[in-house]
Amino acid sequence: MTASTPAAKKLFIKTYGCQMNVYDSQRMAEAMGAEGYVLTEDQADADMVLLNTCHIREKAAEKLYSDLGRLKPLKAARPDLKIGVAGCVAQAEGAEIIRRMPLVDLVVGPQTYHRLPAMARGEIPAIQTDFPEEDKFDHLPAARATRRAPAAFLTVQEGCDKFCAFCVVPYTRGAEVSRPAEHILSEARDLVARGVREITLLGQNVNGWHGTGTGGEWGFGRLIRALGELAGLDRIRYTTSHPNDMGDDLIAAHRDVPQLMPYLHLPVQSGSDRILKAMNRKHTAQQYLRLIDRIREARPDILLTSDFIVGFPGETDQDHRDTLDLIEKVGFAMAYSFRYSPRPGTPAFDRPEVDPAVADARLQELQALLTRQQKAVQQDMVGRTVGVLFEKAGREPGQMIGKSDYLHSVFVQTDAVQVGDLRAVRIVESAANSLRGELVA
Ligand code: SAH
Ligand code: SF4
Ligand code: F3S
Repeated sequence: MTASTPAAKKLFIKTYGCQMNVYDSQRMAEAMGAEGYVLTEDQADADMVLLNTCHIREKAAEKLYSDLGRLKPLKAARPDLKIGVAGCVAQAEGAEIIRRMPLVDLVVGPQTYHRLPAMARGEIPAIQTDFPEEDKFDHLPAARATRRAPAAFLTVQEGCDKFCAFCVVPYTRGAEVSRPAEHILSEARDLVARGVREITLLGQNVNGWHGTGTGGEWGFGRLIRALGELAGLDRIRYTTSHPNDMGDDLIAAHRDVPQLMPYLHLPVQSGSDRILKAMNRKHTAQQYLRLIDRIREARPDILLTSDFIVGFPGETDQDHRDTLDLIEKVGFAMAYSFRYSPRPGTPAFDRPEVDPAVADARLQELQALLTRQQKAVQQDMVGRTVGVLFEKAGREPGQMIGKSDYLHSVFVQTDAVQVGDLRAVRIVESAANSLRGELVA
């Protein structure tokens, strides 16, 4: 006799924003998996659509509402379709989302998504956006023993206490919380057992992580050393770091831990001390440059990337030139740059804005410089042999795509590697946003 199992329900998740949201979407999929939901790539076929949202800039938040508008005909045709909004817009706007878009059934913030199954069953209210005492990670189902892609994310720290004047994260993600070392190590062991060879540790302020481990208080450098002892874990990365939390032990780990990849994303936002102060960044341009020197002393081949905000309230031409000057001095492998977007509830929201045309011109000038630097760094890779972890097949027959030690995308024409292989590759050509390489025999 076989018990009849009901047909699996289908869950469609769209993820906006940062890598933390990518990780959260995976955890929500696992939590709903325990309820009998399987993931679908086809929104029209789903029983539940979950939009995991980002609030960082106005454009990011508005995307949610245009996507919800597009869901109206689907919901009209299938009223039993459940629509959920998760992530940072859910946290920031809460019930307002349902007032504006009544087709939304559930609203769940980043710190309460372990309650999603109970919400979906209708056992608890459909809006959950508090910052609970309990730790969501203690309430999420243990990952199932399914095979994973070779590179995975692992959240170690969440929230932020830095309150940069432009940023919504302290409000949407809440106060800084570090997960216990033992939980992180056991999740890492589980990932390795499922085929993962590269882990990127995630946190809004990842290098501010601290906790109790064997022998006492651990800082982030110590955590990386512990992960370096994990057999089968070939690569460690982390993002995003704050310059003020780059401790000595973490810098030394870049020298000592071979699995820690020679790549660091270290947002600076501006090169002007006046603007850094107005942003509440609590460091100067000189302190940032000195820090870069120390990191490069520890790991001379490290590549650096950053984030910049252009047109922050009060930014003058001289401030802008100071930023260009800092970029010239560092030489970045890549950087994200954004025009300042005033966000409700942040300290800078009401400050007078820079003329949009001026801000746009500055952004273009800054991006042109960053593009030149990116090209130069990529060109410099040509002729070098680097490690490449292969992640997927390319679009052309026989083409494989992986990430280099330096996080460049590398295309290789070969039938001799599989997804999950880590191989030595000689870089032969630099393209716009990727490199081409050949396997080293
Ligand atoms: N925790 C990270 C990044 C947070 S958000 C850090 O401390 O750097 C990612 C990037 O978005 C930021 O680095 C910043 O460059 C940009 N950003 C944040 N708020 C913004 C705003 N209001 N307008 C424009 N860009 C913003
Ligand atoms: Fe936002 Fe600043 Fe915190 Fe980064 S450090 S998340 S930019 S408040
Ligand atoms: Fe966006 Fe929230 Fe990440 S605002 S950048 S999804 S922490």
